[in-house]
Amino acid sequence: MIDKINRIKEEAGRFKAATQAELEEFRLKYLSKKGQLNALFDEFKTVAAEQKREAGQKLNELKNLLNETFERCRATLDGETTSEQDNDLTRPGESIPTGSRHPISITRNEICGIFSRLGFTIAEGPEIEDDWHVFSALNFPKDHPARDMQDTFFVTKDPDVVLRTHTSSVQVRVMETTRPPIRMIMPGRVFRNEAVSARAHCIFHQVEGLYVAENVSFADMKQTLMFFTKEMFGEKSQIRLRPSFFPFTEPSAEMDVSCTCGGKGCSLCKGTGWLEIMGCGMVDPNVLDNCGINSKKYSGYAFGMGIERIAFLKFQIKDIRMYFENDVRFLKQFAAAL
Ligand code: PHE
Repeated sequence: MIDKINRIKEEAGRFKAATQAELEEFRLKYLSKKGQLNALFDEFKTVAAEQKREAGQKLNELKNLLNETFERCRATLDGETTSEQDNDLTRPGESIPTGSRHPISITRNEICGIFSRLGFTIAEGPEIEDDWHVFSALNFPKDHPARDMQDTFFVTKDPDVVLRTHTSSVQVRVMETTRPPIRMIMPGRVFRNEAVSARAHCIFHQVEGLYVAENVSFADMKQTLMFFTKEMFGEKSQIRLRPSFFPFTEPSAEMDVSCTCGGKGCSLCKGTGWLEIMGCGMVDPNVLDNCGINSKKYSGYAFGMGIERIAFLKFQIKDIRMYFENDVRFLKQFAAAL
């Protein structure tokens, strides 16, 4: 029996499979139920007691060899690396694919970077808010039509728990807990009950800013926003302020930035030469008082912009839905913009 084992060992040790069929042949011949290994185990039962020890040991060795040979050949055929290849130190390394930042994150970081250089710090707040912080403290009376501009999602109706429609809610939280001078920006995700289209989404992102101190003027706000625009869109860009309305600022304005087409007419600015990028204004004294800040002593300005909008302009993106589809063909284009 030992001779037989040695013979098979030699034969199988030289075995190499070039095809799956050859490997299957090997399996049938040695390892299957009716294969030679099983036959040897049957024969082992009849071996004389004094030879059992040696024969048993050899038989186990053979079993291991056959199994290893089979596994090695299978791995090679499947294209896996064998231990021999693993030891080849000259093989090129395997590259690990790296991801890239999302265009919204890139843009948010850039906005935050510009304002931090002006001394603004960052504040964050909850996405699930109450009516007071999103509307009432900001001078939106209940049932006032101004609430229609920001139709929200109610989590519970009574008490009013809502998804925040703007990050102005964080301004209220900051003013309630911090004393002037306050110089902060609030980046975050917001939600509105809007039909999803190329220009609008029910989820988007904002960065709002707030500056409250003594003698803050509209001119301070304009200067700050001009600095921001030139940093973000280049030295040549211009700003334009148009009168507008927000319940929490008085006076209020919309700010436009000059389009890179120079007004010659492009699909982004539709030939007007201007693109609206944010709302802004002087904080309404009612809002300061609501938050426990003396409006006789302090004044302030606030502004808010949509990050998606800014990223549209920065990266020439045409459809807001692309930000949320998680399509890597879209996302990997921003790898260089880290
Ligand atoms: N919160 C406003 C919006 O979401 C933007 C804004 C912020 C306007 C601060 C003025 C001042 O539309």
